[in-house]
Amino acid sequence: MDENKRFVTGLDLGTENVRAVIATVSKDGEVSIVGYNEGKSAGMRKGIPANLTGPAEAIDRMLGDAERMGGYDVRDAYVSINGSTVISTHTEGMIAVGAVDHEINDEDLARVEDVAVTGRIPANRDVLDVIPLEYALDGQGGIKDPLGMAGARLEMRACVVSALTPNCENLRRATMAADVKAHRLVPSVVAAAKAVLTDRQKENGVAVVDLGASTTSVAVYEEGDLQYVGVIPAGSNNLTNDLAIVLAIEPELAEEIKVNFITGNFNAEKSLAIKVGKKGERVFDRKEVEVVAKARLDEIFSEVRKKLKSAKYDQRLPEGIVLVGGGAKMRDIDLFAKEALEAAVKIGVPRELNGVAESIAKPEFATAVGLALMAAEASQFDSAVAKKTKKTKGSKTSGFGFIKNIFSKF
Ligand SMILES: Nc1ncnc2c1ncn2[C@@H]1O[C@H](COP(=O)(O)OP(=O)(O)OP(=O)(O)O)[C@@H](O)[C@H]1O
Ligand SMILES: [Mg+2]
Repeated sequence: MDENKRFVTGLDLGTENVRAVIATVSKDGEVSIVGYNEGKSAGMRKGIPANLTGPAEAIDRMLGDAERMGGYDVRDAYVSINGSTVISTHTEGMIAVGAVDHEINDEDLARVEDVAVTGRIPANRDVLDVIPLEYALDGQGGIKDPLGMAGARLEMRACVVSALTPNCENLRRATMAADVKAHRLVPSVVAAAKAVLTDRQKENGVAVVDLGASTTSVAVYEEGDLQYVGVIPAGSNNLTNDLAIVLAIEPELAEEIKVNFITGNFNAEKSLAIKVGKKGERVFDRKEVEVVAKARLDEIFSEVRKKLKSAKYDQRLPEGIVLVGGGAKMRDIDLFAKEALEAAVKIGVPRELNGVAESIAKPEFATAVGLALMAAEASQFDSAVAKKTKKTKGSKTSGFGFIKNIFSKF
């Protein structure tokens, strides 16, 4: 293997589809996509493994082609986690650090983070991420990076992302059964945000909505940080199932109707008949079909709006909403979302990628790409930290500024 390159993998284990993106990271932080693939998922219910063999076999089947394309045998990956047990909680912590002229160091940050998390998150939950939102020193708030600053009392406000431990554990076991170690679990919508959002959007205020097959997840960013994440246990497959039930047809036919004939613009002039089947022999009344589809979309987006309201971001997002996931491929879904959420809406695709990236510049690949980018960032961070510890052993400054520069282009 080329000593100057490291391989990283993002694995998006969805309810309907499983996707992988393999990338290389060069010594100077250049990320290049070298392999990808997608396939049908199995054994997943509402974003959570319902058994281990279904997901493991689906990963195995799908990964082979991505591995051949990338020339790399995947052994570990950043893996998506989904399902309504994924939540965010805002917490606070405070510690005394000593005399007034004490210089805040990494140890103090770890200690205040510990205080902010311990006992605030129920024991049956895995903490997936702790995002420091703001620090205060001796009561003076608004501090983003207190390292090296002086003070006697350190406070921290954080956004803690967690999920029920059994869900996390079963996800790890499912990927392990396919010989892939889940290095980290990342909420699918948070990973997608990594791939589609700009720094400016995250700074000003933006939400990403991942319209999946059986889940719809929401993540809100402001001041550069994740502020909220929540998952609704309904998605685009519910619309297919509604059509199958109301029209008393097979799910395959309902899917064909959804993908080819439903658009988010219910006021557009369209022919009154919907013709599907091999020879267009099955004819349905468009009005009847659209009533069913609209009812489900209304319900999903009203749940999204409830989530935004509960996070206090409803109609408070200058950069609007970015839609990703397979459900975002419905024609004019952005128009529908704009009306339902009363906000500017865009479709998000992975941005500024190198390598064989064209075919994955699609909203449904956002999560897998974001996972690979996160893995790439962490691998750079690891090697930068290793180098730093060698060079300046005992130094108390962090290598973070350097990492931030390299990855600012994402
Ligand atoms: N062109 C299209 N128009 C409308 N819907 C589409 C289109 N293409 C795909 N979909 C829908 O997108 C959904 C699949 O999306 P995706 O692959 O993001 O789901 P998933 O990640 O497997 O599910 P989840 O995230 O809920 O676990 C399916 O319901 C599918 O019908
Ligand atoms: Mg998904």
